[in-house]
Amino acid sequence: MLLTVKSLSCVVGFLLINTIDIFADKNMNRFKVVVANPSVPKIAYDILQKHCDIKTSTVFSRASILQDVVGADALFWASKIRVDKELLDAAGPQLKVIGTMSVGYDQFDIDELKARGIKFGNTPAVLNNAVANIAVMLAIAASRRFTEGRKHIEEGTWINYFNTQWMLGQDLTGSTIGIIGLGQIGQAIAKRLKGFDVGNILYTGHKEKPEGIELGAKFVNLDNLIRESDFIFLAAPLNNQTYQMCNSDFFSKTKKTAVLVNISRGQLVDQEALITALKTGRLFAAGLDVMTPEPLNTDNELIKLNNVVLTPHVGSATNDTRNAMAELTAKNILRALGGAEMFTPVF
Ligand code: DGY
Repeated sequence: MLLTVKSLSCVVGFLLINTIDIFADKNMNRFKVVVANPSVPKIAYDILQKHCDIKTSTVFSRASILQDVVGADALFWASKIRVDKELLDAAGPQLKVIGTMSVGYDQFDIDELKARGIKFGNTPAVLNNAVANIAVMLAIAASRRFTEGRKHIEEGTWINYFNTQWMLGQDLTGSTIGIIGLGQIGQAIAKRLKGFDVGNILYTGHKEKPEGIELGAKFVNLDNLIRESDFIFLAAPLNNQTYQMCNSDFFSKTKKTAVLVNISRGQLVDQEALITALKTGRLFAAGLDVMTPEPLNTDNELIKLNNVVLTPHVGSATNDTRNAMAELTAKNILRALGGAEMFTPVF
């Protein structure tokens, strides 16, 4: 009989595909799960510990995590540390499941995971609202000069309200919106902006999407989007096509009154080119939740610019959202360990 206890549990998993407790009452080995971050919400532990022995990495260093992952059946990833051949080799061939507590997964060597038959899932959907909300906040804050206004208050340079030309910003209402990447978060941004009575909504990406039609958004090429948009939202994943797509050529085509919002990954932007555009008036303002590097060096020029609003990569940082992400990741891992399909598999 070649069936191991673990592979038998796969069969059980398929039979009970719609319930998370796919191992209930089975007398079986426990799986070893490594949680690569000590701050993961408790709910993930509550879910996993029924069927798994959990080891939590407490030191955020690659060297330490390379040791922690040895012998793991599954990884619960909430870390920027790259998961590549070296790390997968360190874990060992029994590693068959990885769940990342993030929607983005640019820190994974996807080809390597696929080659090893590792099941892999992320956390889309549950963070759409939180991230879209912060995108709208950044758009308004940048276009209405929040950083500059705050400095005026702090420095006592607040000019009388009746100077009618002081601190004028850009209107969201009536503006042309450009969304690069109309995925779930891009769509959530578009839905919110409609509530502000924006004008046209443009988007670009691989192809025209039915959701775009439902939103009344127009599919355009990147060049048109850059030239026509008053607000440009970066909501595309980081990959070879999007890496540093916002470069000096990009900023040479933006409206001088345009506002750039980035809630995706800092590496979509050539940051030096962005800083030049902001300093020379090629771009009105930027609202950034993501930047390069993270954490940003405290002497980085972005921090000094009046026309930049920064938040420290906190798009999904609300209690409910982080709990939902942790819960989904844990459930994805358990399901895959039991042989069932993850709720939100990447593959
Ligand atoms: C995500 O979920 O991808 C967030 O940006 C955290 O990295």
